[in-house]
Amino acid sequence: MKIEDVKNICVLGCGIMGSGIVQLCAGLGYNTTFYEISDEIVKRSMERIRGSLSRAVEKGKMTKEQLEATMAKIKGTTNLKEAAANADIVIEAIPENLELKKKTWKQLDEICPKHTIFASNTSSLMITDQASATKRPEKFIGMHFFNPAHVMKLVEIIRGAVTSDETYKVIHDLAVKMGKVPVEAKDGPGFFTTRFICYTVAEIIRLLELGIAGVKEIDTMVRLGFGWPMGPFVLADFVGLDTIYHVLEYCYNETGNPAYKPPMLLRKMVIAGYIGDPRQKPGSRGGFYEYFNVPREQ
Ligand code: 3HC
Repeated sequence: MKIEDVKNICVLGCGIMGSGIVQLCAGLGYNTTFYEISDEIVKRSMERIRGSLSRAVEKGKMTKEQLEATMAKIKGTTNLKEAAANADIVIEAIPENLELKKKTWKQLDEICPKHTIFASNTSSLMITDQASATKRPEKFIGMHFFNPAHVMKLVEIIRGAVTSDETYKVIHDLAVKMGKVPVEAKDGPGFFTTRFICYTVAEIIRLLELGIAGVKEIDTMVRLGFGWPMGPFVLADFVGLDTIYHVLEYCYNETGNPAYKPPMLLRKMVIAGYIGDPRQKPGSRGGFYEYFNVPREQ
């Protein structure tokens, strides 16, 4: 299969990352079907995508007609078979749980045609491991987007042990069509980008625990001293503290490197329900800013 043969894309999971990926695929004119676990979430996801496209119209980045044309390409369903039966590519963005992902891939292996490529948007779980749940490991690949997916330019592409060149080329070309810059990294826990960011955030949390500086002070120093667009605590709250915690735990267990050991403060916050910025994570009690009662500026 070549990128020109791709007509239908299925996205599994339509949360923060999934909805951005759906928006990108439909924007390119692909028939885009997404799968979610309840009718209520399907409805909420559609509203989230429409909201994001409406902001693009307000900013003059697209016309109202383009918005409606994009929305017309999107269909949400709670039926996995209906979502994936005609897919040329499946992009998975469900929670970071290896057993859940493997169970889902096994089901999809039965549902999808032989030519369908399986791409995981996992930020950490090894591609070779996930591919082993299917009978098509050569058609299995990592396609790692960054939040916000419709804005961030990087797509990290990860081959499993036996991913074919043909699969790599289709996913590489899809990323380019989306206006992204694909960069290849080797398979392993957290690949490159997740190990880099989680290691950095963990160390910064340890400096906060030591009382070296406060939440707002650290964010200001990193933004103004190193030119990051957001401070590390705004970023961690934005990505999700539960996600960072689970990734650190996984990388620590897989590598034994103490640099990845989840800081106790992060563990306490996640257990207490502080899982990130409530604007991004519905149901969260807050992130670092709320936990330490510091007013948010970003
Ligand atoms: N919380 C939630 N959304 C935010 C936000 C925040 N703190 N700040 C900006 N956004 C959203 C805006 O709502 C907007 O969405 P829209 O297009 O749907 O309206 C979008 O980001 C772009 O906003 P702006 O046009 O105002 O652009 P800015 O100049 O403010 O830049 C940014 C925003 C692009 C998010 C910039 O601050 C940035 O680059 N931040 C770093 C992001 C980053 O590091 N992402 C990687 C996270 S790690 C990851 O995703 C890997 C994963 O697997 C764990």
